[in-house]
Formats: sequence, C-alpha cells, structure tokens
Amino acid sequence: MEFKIPFSGRAHDYTEEEIDTVVTAMKSANPLTQGKYLHAFEEKFCDYIGAKYAFAVSNATAALEIAAQLCQFESGDEIVIPSHTFTSSAYPFAKKGARLVWADIDPKTRVVTAETLSRKITKNTRAMVVPHLYGYGADMPAIMDLAKKHDLLVIEDAAQAMGVEIEGNKSGTFSDFGVFSFHSHKNITTLGEGGILVVKDEEIAKVIPLLRHNGHCAFPYTRKDYWIPAMGNLDFPRIHGKDLWPNNYCLGEIECALGAKLLDRVDQINLEKRNRALYFIDALVNFPMLEFHREDSVRHNYHLLAARILNGQRDNFIRKMALEKGIQCVVQYYPLNRYPLYQQAGFGVADCPDADEFFDNMVSFPFHHWLSDEDMDYLLTSTREVLESMEL
Ligand SMILES: Cc1ncc(COP(=O)(O)O)c(C=O)c1O
Repeated sequence: MEFKIPFSGRAHDYTEEEIDTVVTAMKSANPLTQGKYLHAFEEKFCDYIGAKYAFAVSNATAALEIAAQLCQFESGDEIVIPSHTFTSSAYPFAKKGARLVWADIDPKTRVVTAETLSRKITKNTRAMVVPHLYGYGADMPAIMDLAKKHDLLVIEDAAQAMGVEIEGNKSGTFSDFGVFSFHSHKNITTLGEGGILVVKDEEIAKVIPLLRHNGHCAFPYTRKDYWIPAMGNLDFPRIHGKDLWPNNYCLGEIECALGAKLLDRVDQINLEKRNRALYFIDALVNFPMLEFHREDSVRHNYHLLAARILNGQRDNFIRKMALEKGIQCVVQYYPLNRYPLYQQAGFGVADCPDADEFFDNMVSFPFHHWLSDEDMDYLLTSTREVLESMEL
C-alpha cells in the first residue's frame, strides 16, 4: 500500500555542511576505521553528554552486547527489564546467561519506575535495564537509589533518548552503562547504523577498546623491530578474574565524522520535534479519547509520538487513518514475553498489566523530522476528522 505519509525509515535529512563533512572524510580518512574521526567523535560526545568515557560502536545492540558481557552473570542471576521495549534491550543479556524478568511500565510515562522495577527484585537480581522509551527520561535518581540499596548494576538504554536531561544531567550518564543508537530511525543517525557505549568505571573503560576490536592492543614492552614478534598483540585484562572474549563492533571513520558533526544539531532537532509534538498534542486536547504523554521540557525529545486510544478503538483508528487518509500509523513494542523467541527460551510469562494494556491500545504516529509543515497540518486535520467520524 502506498501511503501519503509513511512511517518513514529515515529520521532526518542532512544539511550541505553535514554532506561536506562526509565527503571530506571519504576523500581523506586513512585508515577508514579506528582512526582520528573515531577519537574526535568520542571526545566530542563526552563533552556533549558530560561523561568521562564514551566508545563509538557499530550500533546500540553492540553496546548492549558489551554491557551484557561485562555484567559477567553467573548461573541463576536475574536481570529486570521492561516487557515493553525494543528487543535488543533484552536478548544480549539472555545470550550471556541471565534470566530475564519482566517489569511493568508506568501507564502515564510508559517507562519503568523505581516502583515497577522494585516489584521484580529478588535475591537473585544482579542488574536492571532502563530504556528511556519514546525519548522520555525515566526517573534515574530514584532508580539509582534502588540499585544502590540492592547492589545492582544498571544499564540505561538511551537508544531513543539522545540529548534528554533528567534533573540537570543527560540520560545515559547516571548508571554503570549508557547506550545510544544512531540507527536510521533515531533523532540523529550516522548513515543508518551507529552507537555509543558510555561507562563510568576506569577499569571497565580500559577493556572496552579491546572488547570492541578483536582484542587488539599494544605489546607491554618496547620492541626493537616493529614486526617482531608480530605487528600487534592480542591480550585481555581479566575483569573479576574471569575470561572475556572480544568482538568486532567498530564504527567506521565516515560515520564517526558525521556523528561528531551531528552533535552540533541534535539539540535543535530535539527542540523542533518537541515543539511539533506539543503543538499536535495541544491541538487535540478536545479529544480526550486520545491520551498523549505531554512533557514540555528537555526530559522528552519526542523521538516518537505515541498515544493511547481509549474505548478499544485503536485498530479502527489506524485502519481509518491508513485507508481514508493514507497515513501510516504503527503499533510499537509488542510485549517481549509474547514473542516466540522469548517464550521458547522460558521468558514467556510476565505480570505486566500496564504494559499489556498500553500496547493493546497504543498508536504511534509518523513523526520523522523531515515531515513538512503541510504534512503536519494534514496529519492533524486527518486525526481530527477520523476521531470525529468515529464519534468516540
Ligand atoms: C530502545 C532501543 N534499544 C536498543 C535499540 C537498538 O539500537 P540499534 O539499532 O542501534 O542496535 C533500539 C533501536 O531501535 C531501541 O529503540
């Protein structure tokens, strides 16, 4: 089906300056991976976000895989994760041997809270994953207090929450691991794929370049001939006395050059998306059957524009928007416990009524940054007309 307004796979367009940055890097980068643009991107990202250590990786899933490895789970260890999130918030931890325990979300903000997480903590819990879903920053101060009380590791999945601030600090900087995505859909994208892993601990920070890049490192002594005993070394510091095996999760130089450049524009993109979202939400205030999460602050970057539709009319609404208006609304974050992938692994049971209720009634509007003002007007008028025709 051809849509007049599709749910686009491309989040934003690039400025001429951004295109020039890419072309310059294409012409001059040597090497094309693991070079000066990587270091410049990581340094600029640290300054932007207020973190000490940031590592560019191939995508946010790779960052989550590294975080999962560094959790070093033992048999019987549990990790608490919301059932309402993207799949890669969860499966890297199952791959590393943790038992996944599903937490519910807050029905208003649609993210986990200290309270919903605390309901799932047992004596076996080792860690928690906190996705700032839809671009809204979860209550990290309260969640970190909870983590401290129970001695738990925390992974902030800020894949959707670049630039979001929670009580004056940027999302991804509160916890042990902060994960960012520059995938095609995100508020800034490094040509479709890209990610960053932020960590706090110095020892952990030392090991991440090796985990990211095949264990490559320097020899710990000065060599007379640069090719003897080999061109480079492979080694691994043991963390907590345990073996670690490396990966190749590198991000190329062109993507890094663009990532650094996009940091100049991320606040502007977030502001424009938030202003549009607030305008849209306020313009629909006379339709209380459409329930948005309204947040007029930097705590929300409105990566996505999601709403709950009351009276069990969600599917009717999406169908009418598609067939009568040519607008492709979607549903998002099928509770992970409902997928065969997780059910087959024994993670098919979740007591998360608010997540279930929200998913079963939610709609996500097309909301990419490159929508024109005319597209936004059409989206708004169409939404009004469809709601009126449904006599909700
Ligand atoms: C909440 C969340 N976590 C993780 C990811 C994975 O990001 P990536 O595609 O960069 O691996 C995504 C991307 O869609 C996401 O939305």
